[in-house]
Amino acid sequence: MKIAVAPLAEIPENGTRTFALNGKSVLVVRTMAGVFAIENRCSHALQALEGGKLRGFHIFCPAHGVRFDMRDGSAMGTLTKSPITVWETEIIDGVVHIGMDGV
Ligand code: FES
Repeated sequence: MKIAVAPLAEIPENGTRTFALNGKSVLVVRTMAGVFAIENRCSHALQALEGGKLRGFHIFCPAHGVRFDMRDGSAMGTLTKSPITVWETEIIDGVVHIGMDGV
């Protein structure tokens, strides 16, 4: 199931916007590397990833700095190896859609 969340123009460039979808906090991130939809909860100590520094397809947790690859959710660093959930995104007619099958 693809969920339409917002026009791409409403996601700031090199920025984020948070949505509540299917009972989850989903962080939609827009960078030069693309548009990503990730779980807005770090796998280390469950802090929000919103506000984390962005670099390409990486986001750094603002709490303790673990870096996550927003393409597959994998964690880099010593604090955790647990990935975060990521969802597919697609821009359809200028609107960001998120695939949340099975969520
Ligand atoms: S809560 Fe994210 S790195 Fe610790």
